[in-house]
Amino acid sequence: MKFVVFGSLGWAGSRHVNALVEMGHEIVALVDPGAGCAAQAAKVGARACASIDDLDFDSFEAATLALPPHLHPLLTRRLALAGKHVMCEKPMAPDTAEALSLVEFAKSVPVTIMPGYLLRTNPHIRGFLDALRGMGKVRRVHISTNVRKPSMAGWRSEPIIGGALLVNAIHQLDLATWFVGENLLPRFAQLDNVHFEAPTEDLFFTSLVSPSGVTATVLSSWSPNPPICDDGLMITDAGRLRIEAETDEGSIILTGTGYRKNGEYIALPGVVGVNQFIKELEHFVDAIETGSPLWVTVEDNYDVQKLIDDCRAAAIAPAGRVAKRVA
Ligand SMILES: NC(=O)c1ccc[n+]([C@@H]2O[C@H](COP(=O)([O-])OP(=O)(O)OC[C@H]3O[C@@H](n4cnc5c(N)ncnc54)[C@H](O)[C@@H]3O)[C@@H](O)[C@H]2O)c1
Repeated sequence: MKFVVFGSLGWAGSRHVNALVEMGHEIVALVDPGAGCAAQAAKVGARACASIDDLDFDSFEAATLALPPHLHPLLTRRLALAGKHVMCEKPMAPDTAEALSLVEFAKSVPVTIMPGYLLRTNPHIRGFLDALRGMGKVRRVHISTNVRKPSMAGWRSEPIIGGALLVNAIHQLDLATWFVGENLLPRFAQLDNVHFEAPTEDLFFTSLVSPSGVTATVLSSWSPNPPICDDGLMITDAGRLRIEAETDEGSIILTGTGYRKNGEYIALPGVVGVNQFIKELEHFVDAIETGSPLWVTVEDNYDVQKLIDDCRAAAIAPAGRVAKRVA
């Protein structure tokens, strides 16, 4: 398939480029105003463009977007209206109202629009969920990420579009909703600066409850010295995702090679070292080519952006930030 990658020089966009190259897809253009775009494009045989306006719209079928989130909605719309399939990184919009309007928009266009919640397509997570679903009624889920950050710099700590909640916990809130299979509402939430003096929180914690009484707790922390343990899944160059759950038939914990169910270690084949971006893009292409249903939808993106709003509204003492370290 012929692709264009937007934000190709960034953390996520460069991974889209590498994944597409490894998968053997043709990248016809890279769109990034950054200085290294021409060199990056030359390496993969693509054109370098500073803006969407420089693209030849007849030359590609699909695009991936990995941009500061406020740029996602307009580009998603322009591309989809031109008949291009779009894989847009999470969050698809800077706020819930725009996320909701994208749900209606996605229904109105005959192309595939998929949000980039790559854990939904990760075989390790899918294998864990299959096992969890075979263990009777779920009572409690805990999902946490600890990400190493030497400092808080760039757009990731800017108000509105940054912070540990919107940038990282968004994945865990999506997983919690998916695992529990019901809407979740926060009993309380905490957004604080534990390590860094910064405009947005470096710690997010919430306890959520579903209508049937399932509890899901979510922790997302950015710190210079994250506690890394053996159980869990590496999702960044320096961080750890940990998942544990209790059901009527016991407990289950995500491990580095699969999961541990009631004390028994189960290895999942082919999950160690898996390239999550390749798995995500394989699913995107498969959905386009076969018309099979997406494992994660624009509506799922809205649900998680709405839950983020609910958590902000439920935050206790939001002004009570205590910064112990200056970034
Ligand atoms: N799925 C994941 O695990 C994951 C991980 C990291 C980031 N993300 C998401 O990906 C998106 C980008 O994050 P990042 O960490 O890669 O950011 P980044 O700051 O590293 O990269 C953003 C890139 O966009 C480029 N850019 C800015 N304006 C542009 C425009 N108008 N057209 C084209 N390019 C433009 C910048 O030059 C930069 O290279 C965010 O939505 C983020 O939440 C997802």
